[in-house]
Amino acid sequence: MKYYLTTPIYYINDRPHAGTAYTTVAADVIARYHRSRGDETFFLAGTAEHGAKIAARAEKEGLSPADFCDRNAQYFIDAWQTLAISYDDFIRTTQARHTEAVNVYFTKLKASGKLYEKDYQGLYCVGCESFKHEKDLVDGLCPDHQVAPDVVTERNWFFRLSDYADQIEQLIVDGALRIEPDSRRNEVLSFIRQGLEDIAVSRSRAKVPWAIPLPWDDTQVIYVWCEELFNYCSAIGYAIDQARFAAWWPANVHIVGKDILRFHAVIWPALLLAIGESLPAQIYAHGHFTVNGQKMSKSLGNSIDPRELAREFGSDGARYLLLAQMPFGADGDIKTSQFVTQYNADLANGIGNLASRVLAMVEKYCAGAVPTVAPEDWQAELVSMWQRYDQAFERLALDQAIAILKELTARCDAFIEQRKPWQLAKDPAQHPQLEATLATLLEAVRQVGLMSWPIMPTTGSALNNLFDIGWEGRPLAEARVWGQLPPAGTVLTHLEALFPRHQNPAT
Ligand code: MSP
Repeated sequence: MKYYLTTPIYYINDRPHAGTAYTTVAADVIARYHRSRGDETFFLAGTAEHGAKIAARAEKEGLSPADFCDRNAQYFIDAWQTLAISYDDFIRTTQARHTEAVNVYFTKLKASGKLYEKDYQGLYCVGCESFKHEKDLVDGLCPDHQVAPDVVTERNWFFRLSDYADQIEQLIVDGALRIEPDSRRNEVLSFIRQGLEDIAVSRSRAKVPWAIPLPWDDTQVIYVWCEELFNYCSAIGYAIDQARFAAWWPANVHIVGKDILRFHAVIWPALLLAIGESLPAQIYAHGHFTVNGQKMSKSLGNSIDPRELAREFGSDGARYLLLAQMPFGADGDIKTSQFVTQYNADLANGIGNLASRVLAMVEKYCAGAVPTVAPEDWQAELVSMWQRYDQAFERLALDQAIAILKELTARCDAFIEQRKPWQLAKDPAQHPQLEATLATLLEAVRQVGLMSWPIMPTTGSALNNLFDIGWEGRPLAEARVWGQLPPAGTVLTHLEALFPRHQNPAT
């Protein structure tokens, strides 16, 4: 099976922060899960680099827009590397492959007969890069950016979005276009049922020069949203490599934050229908979070730098802490004061301690080698856990997948307490049981490695490399079958501490 998933492409004027890192880590976990199952996976990330907001920021910093974008794109590339994001491609909307594909797409859009010119006056928020209605404003200001939108009077090209309301509603109701979670689907449906208005797809080139010109009217540029949505197609070869495009399109899922759901669930499908392309199978909108009870903002100094987080807790720790704060899909609050406690409880004392304890006992009682007695049979229990793990990924309930990993870890801890290997070791008659206990634990640690890998790849690889049985690239379905330790007597490689304990400020 092929699996094509995407993150939003982030505006390049900002630095990577906890919000964009959250979406990107979540998408990476899903991509890695699919790869580990043996699906042919393509994971796309990137940056949105056109528009008035970016040009203004570049000017403020004394850089040309192109130089500004080159510099800032690197901030994202570096941050994603620190978080072990395994994207297959990183698209930038200033690349020729994007602008060429967009020219073909817009030419088709024009040919569809769904565009028309109109004089227009509207309220434009540059921060959002979108038009606003009076009713969207709070005290005359955009609630997200706290600025009064510009009054824009222009002659622009419009797209007959209103023509698509019934069709898109039907596709969503039928499930041909899955909008998830359900609460978000209902929001989108009620938005569509209020009636859709046509949208401007171009802006005046004189006012927004840093953008892609309309192919047939060089006084106009393409409205950034209509162009950047198309990155999902241009990255896989639209108009340039038709065979490659056909192999990957449509996307299996676009992962987005709830703030940009309407663009993805309404405008994007309508544009695709107009040019005769198939629609993505699913759009998943996760919730938004505040940090320590407040909206993330630079002025408050509460926007978390993902690289700092990784420096403090390691790349796996940072990924875990971002994802473990709230159910995926729901809104939440990140309490940074809880990071150390949570890291210590779940990772240092959880998986980290389990692995080092089991290996220390194998070292002490079995000379560091795989025991000669076979593991006890936990197959049925593991089958149930893996089933629930797969179901969690099917629903993109990433928090549930994490919960199952914790369940397995806790199961092992309880088993150690119950068997007390250190007591069994005192009585030679109990040695077969000691060996069986340790073999069972080693096999369970191998399974913990497999289960961790999508979420915490460094940990997953370290645990699986212990056994050196070439697990990577092997379908998970095979690797997860209980009882695949290397032959008895195989000496295990050394394992560095996975999650060094943090000094807890509360203790
Ligand atoms: N350029 C558009 C996306 C185009 S996709 C074709 C854009 N960029 S953005 O830089 O503003 O990124 C928005 C995304 O950042 C959100 O959808 C979400 O993924 C992430 N988040 C920003 N703030 C967030 C929170 N407070 N909480 C969770 N995610 C947040 O919009």
